[in-house]
Amino acid sequence: MAMSSMQGKVCLVTGSSSGIGKVTARELAQMGAAVVMVCRNRAKGEAVQMEIKEVSGNTRVDLIVADLSELSEVRRVASEFKQNYAQLHVLVNNAGGIQSEHKVTSDGLEVTFATNYLAPFLLTHLLLDVLKASAPARIVNVSSTAHARGKVDFADLQGTRRYSFAKAYGQSKLALIYFTYELADRLKGTDVTVNALHPGVVASNFNDGMKGLAHAIGTLIYTLVGISVEKGAQTPLYLATSPEVEGVSGRYFSDCKETPSSRRSYDAAVRQRLWRVSEELIQQNALSHLISEN
Ligand SMILES: NC(=O)c1ccc[n+]([C@@H]2O[C@H](COP(=O)([O-])OP(=O)(O)OC[C@H]3O[C@@H](n4cnc5c(N)ncnc54)[C@H](OP(=O)(O)O)[C@@H]3O)[C@@H](O)[C@H]2O)c1
Repeated sequence: MAMSSMQGKVCLVTGSSSGIGKVTARELAQMGAAVVMVCRNRAKGEAVQMEIKEVSGNTRVDLIVADLSELSEVRRVASEFKQNYAQLHVLVNNAGGIQSEHKVTSDGLEVTFATNYLAPFLLTHLLLDVLKASAPARIVNVSSTAHARGKVDFADLQGTRRYSFAKAYGQSKLALIYFTYELADRLKGTDVTVNALHPGVVASNFNDGMKGLAHAIGTLIYTLVGISVEKGAQTPLYLATSPEVEGVSGRYFSDCKETPSSRRSYDAAVRQRLWRVSEELIQQNALSHLISEN
């Protein structure tokens, strides 16, 4: 894989305390980029930050601690980042997970939907001005092949009527692809690209959000067919750094190759509706915070 030097580039990687995000952050630091890690657990994040600095010999590795399932935390990440950096060349929306049980954030959002989809939607919007000012810049959205089994259920987006981890996860990863395609259209002419990817079936900590039989089955699958986190990070790194994908936008990749996403994911009416609904959810949240502060 052709990789360019990342000297002089600033990269932000969410969910870089473990798995694919950790390797992505480490490799970007090794290529010379200034890396901003976004992690929800301070102790874990600081340990990985130190490890990456040691391994890469790169001292420009920063950490922002935030739980991205909370919209106010996403806003804080963007403002902390902007206080310290005037440029952003690569945004990797990697943080994500799967939940056995239906859990709701303080914003009233289902955790999978909030973390895997609405957080990247909001964070990307809040950082778009810096990305545009730093162009050429790239946005890399870590989706999953599970999107193909997903459907955006507008009547029950938060899974309150019927919840299953597979439904919630598939929906969130499909939503991220809709977002990728719609944003790519809206960013035409800006030299900011946005692509989505499936990293492979990766033996990471991903299965930790599962319980009981589903956890046992997941463990078996990851043990039997899971690829290493190093291999899992190859496609995000390819999209973040390779000259081969310079200017390429609005595409879906797996194994460092462009590949079609599900037929459903190309439905422009659904993606535009989802965009409007997402804006409304974020506006409601901003307004409810203003109301509760007064
Ligand atoms: N593993 C696979 O087979 C696979 C397949 C397809 C797609 N993916 C996607 O790949 C991405 C990375 O997953 P992974 O396999 O590397 O799993 P992982 O080892 O569990 O890493 C997930 C990362 O996201 C962070 N994270 C989760 N929820 C967060 C929140 N609310 N706020 C901030 N950070 C949060 C985790 O933090 P902690 O360290 O604190 O838990 C961790 O750093 C995810 O988006 C996942 O959906 C994975």
